[in-house]
Amino acid sequence: MMRLGFNMFKPFRQHLTYFSNNLSNKKGLVLGVYTEEGKPFKLTAAAEYYNKVSNGQLVKHIELVGGNIKQGKSYVFWGLDNTFQSVAVVGLGKEKKGFHRTELMDQDKETIRTAAASGCEALNSMGIHDITFESFGDAETSAEGSLLSSWKFQGVRTKKDPLPTVNLLEVPGLQEQSLWYLGSIKAQSQNFARFLSDTPSNLMTPSIFCQNVEEALKNLNIKIEIHDKKWAEELGMGSFLSVNKGSDEPPKFLELTYTNAVDKPMVLIGKGVTFDAGGISLKPATCMDEMRGDMGGAACVVATLQAVAAMKLEANLKVLVPLVENMPSGSATKPGDVVRAMNGKTICVDNTDAEGRLILADALVYSKRFVPKWILDVATLTGAMRVALGNAAAGVFTNSDELYRLLQEAGAKTGDRVWRFPLWDHYSTQITKYDAFDVNNVGKAKGGGSCTAAAFLKEFVPENTDWIHMDIAGVMGPDCGVKYLPKGMSGRPTRTLIEFIRSQVKK
Ligand code: BES
Ligand code: MN
Ligand code: ZN
Repeated sequence: MMRLGFNMFKPFRQHLTYFSNNLSNKKGLVLGVYTEEGKPFKLTAAAEYYNKVSNGQLVKHIELVGGNIKQGKSYVFWGLDNTFQSVAVVGLGKEKKGFHRTELMDQDKETIRTAAASGCEALNSMGIHDITFESFGDAETSAEGSLLSSWKFQGVRTKKDPLPTVNLLEVPGLQEQSLWYLGSIKAQSQNFARFLSDTPSNLMTPSIFCQNVEEALKNLNIKIEIHDKKWAEELGMGSFLSVNKGSDEPPKFLELTYTNAVDKPMVLIGKGVTFDAGGISLKPATCMDEMRGDMGGAACVVATLQAVAAMKLEANLKVLVPLVENMPSGSATKPGDVVRAMNGKTICVDNTDAEGRLILADALVYSKRFVPKWILDVATLTGAMRVALGNAAAGVFTNSDELYRLLQEAGAKTGDRVWRFPLWDHYSTQITKYDAFDVNNVGKAKGGGSCTAAAFLKEFVPENTDWIHMDIAGVMGPDCGVKYLPKGMSGRPTRTLIEFIRSQVKK
């Protein structure tokens, strides 16, 4: 019965419910004010417009509270005009803060996302669920902040909190709707990734994950192939299949194709472990529930494809998602067992909890046949990455300086940043210098666990191919420390991936 979770959830519709479930008719508006030297405050263009519409009520009320609204803080005023019962005015700090080189951050954009979240939270907590946002001079970013902060995962809770309806304030003379639309695609895709990642593992098995993807991507010009165990056996994906041996759920290998250009395909690969118990190398009980999100990489690449297709970007994309459960049982792979990957390499499964790299290995080998423009894999791969970076950024390993530059730029723009780590032979040696097999899935050395994991993947990357590996264990959630992302699995770094692809295609 629980297997019907998919029907219970109506996932994609649920993820869109903020368009239909507002219970209150009260309307709210979110506006911004800058601080400016020599003056108590400076209105944004939209706030300027609203001040006129409200016959100067806005400025009057801001002055009544002293005029100085700190960055990220909101004041709520009531009854300024007849359309909006309440107006949240958010402090934006200094105008045009610009790009911060050491923070690797577009500070103006991040300010806007945080401001939208602050206004949204202020109004929502007062029972206003129909909220209009101004653009803050950047409608795309305003849409991101408002749509990300107004959605939270509520799963199978019987009485759900109403989620706000979110709109852009149209200001005469400003053409901002199409930018708002772009931002909302990015945010909604990330929300979809959040939904997939946070859903409990009994309701998000490999099979259910595929059903969700089919539902979410239909009508988007995407070919969907759901390969089964037999298909993987015939291709010799012994590494991928070894991980699922302890599970009662069938493994799936999802292959999605988006064709909208004359070009080699960009290949995205996502780690899809719908639950990682560790296998026979069982994980400790504390926080093991977080491993429902061990398909965060899979969620991000699917969500990215959804956005790319919705934006109709001129690109070719292949998305490969190996899906398994990593469980202990009488049929599970045992530590020390040796398996053979699709490229013929033999792997000693020294620790069954280092399973992500085992499923990615076969996906990387499989991608060779598409002659990729580049390959990018995303994985909640190592606890060591959480230790290294916390939830500040995703760790990146790549053989291409140019692609890293683009990815870093994308991260600075979205606020969902990346940071580079080494892919040195030093680490490769640690996993390959053995007598009885080709590769060990954990290696000899202590420390540098994220780097040995990346070195392991490198053994399976097609030759002479640009490749990026992103370790997202630190940023996956359940508390990713971002003001505009309510607690829960984060869907990071979906927007960075979308932006990374967008930066490489014809506008
Ligand atoms: N999915 C985990 C990594 C992880 C841990 C992600 C915590 C998010 C939070 C991965 O499969 C794993 O178990 N990695 C092991 C590797 C080790 C056995 C070499 C780890 O990091 O402990
Ligand atoms: Mn594991
Ligand atoms: Zn895992």
